[in-house]
Amino acid sequence: MSAADQTPTTPRIIALMNQKGGVGKTTTTVNLGSVLSQAGKRVCLIDLDPQAHLTLHLGVDDEQIDCTVYDLLVDPQCTAEQAIVHARENLDAILAEVDLAGAEPELAAVDDRQRILRRKFDVIADRYDYVLIDCPPSLGLLTLNALALAHEVVVPMQAHFLALQGVGKLLETVGLVCQRVNPKLRVSGVVLCMHESQTTLAKEVLADLDAFFEASRQQDVPWRDCQVLRPPVRRNIKLAEAPSFGQTILEYEPSCPGAKDYVELAASVVALGGAALGVKTHAGADAALPIEDDAAQRKRATPHATGNGVPAVKSAAGQVEPKPMDAPVTPEQQQAADAAIRAARVAAPEPDAGAQTEK
Ligand SMILES: Nc1ncnc2c1ncn2[C@@H]1O[C@H](COP(=O)(O)OP(=O)(O)OP(=O)(O)O)[C@@H](O)[C@H]1O
Ligand SMILES: [Mg+2]
Repeated sequence: MSAADQTPTTPRIIALMNQKGGVGKTTTTVNLGSVLSQAGKRVCLIDLDPQAHLTLHLGVDDEQIDCTVYDLLVDPQCTAEQAIVHARENLDAILAEVDLAGAEPELAAVDDRQRILRRKFDVIADRYDYVLIDCPPSLGLLTLNALALAHEVVVPMQAHFLALQGVGKLLETVGLVCQRVNPKLRVSGVVLCMHESQTTLAKEVLADLDAFFEASRQQDVPWRDCQVLRPPVRRNIKLAEAPSFGQTILEYEPSCPGAKDYVELAASVVALGGAALGVKTHAGADAALPIEDDAAQRKRATPHATGNGVPAVKSAAGQVEPKPMDAPVTPEQQQAADAAIRAARVAAPEPDAGAQTEK
């Protein structure tokens, strides 16, 4: 059964974003999506990275792909319906090829270019419970398209000593995007990937992150409800092996620590929306809890939600005011958004190499 075969719903659209490379964005997108789909959620994954690692990881046969996310962005005639590939039970995907790298220069003169994906995807969004977008390790137009479509940002990262600096820069960018492109966007979670919980450094970074987000609770910032999600995903060689086989971790080695971590992490992601995930961990523990309607629960869980579901912000005077609905982007806003992204763009450092991996 295709993920899109059931009744309409309000999806949670989550961009997995970090401008740093090799931190676990793709691994998290694929395996979270896989766990959610196996728990009966209707899931769509979008590969917005020209490296096309998500596409490779899913192991989809080329013949199944009529058009890619590149076509969706640059060809006005291409629809999201045409770009959808049915990858697994309950799991659809919009896939990428290396030509996606050409999209940014080709779109340089197109009006409202940061919202192309959103305009196209909105038409089919209500077929899904969860839409997960794998962002490239950069802060360009592709990432901006992800942030314009998303409701939430989840930040995969590694607990190393520059991590907090990188997260600060990323939060700044999300703040700018909120102001200019997508006022509803919020940062809902951080996922610690390739985690080595025994190291002092990892413990310190985790404590610093928790303290940082606790201190943000009273501020009018898009990350004020952000949680460092538990559990951290341990470093586990099976997670690194699975993509070469075009398999998710539940298909490749469902009893390994990496699979267990992603099953539990998926339950935490669902819980962020106020619901629970009915899925068994392979360690034998039953993470099943009653599943309520995610959208209804999310509405209840959103702080200061207004009657029409539009998230609200506190004014300086402490009154709750609705955030503005999206208006068409003016040329000035477009320029400002481009400038903000240019200013925030940072070179992605090389991924950590050589660390030990848990079997
Ligand atoms: N928990 C883990 N344990 C071991 N290896 C992992 C783990 N998570 C990810 N990896 C491996 O680390 C590498 C980087 O992970 P991944 O591709 O998910 O990162 P990314 O942030 O998407 O990278 P990029 O920025 O290049 O898109 C991959 O080889 C992946 O298989
Ligand atoms: Mg990736």
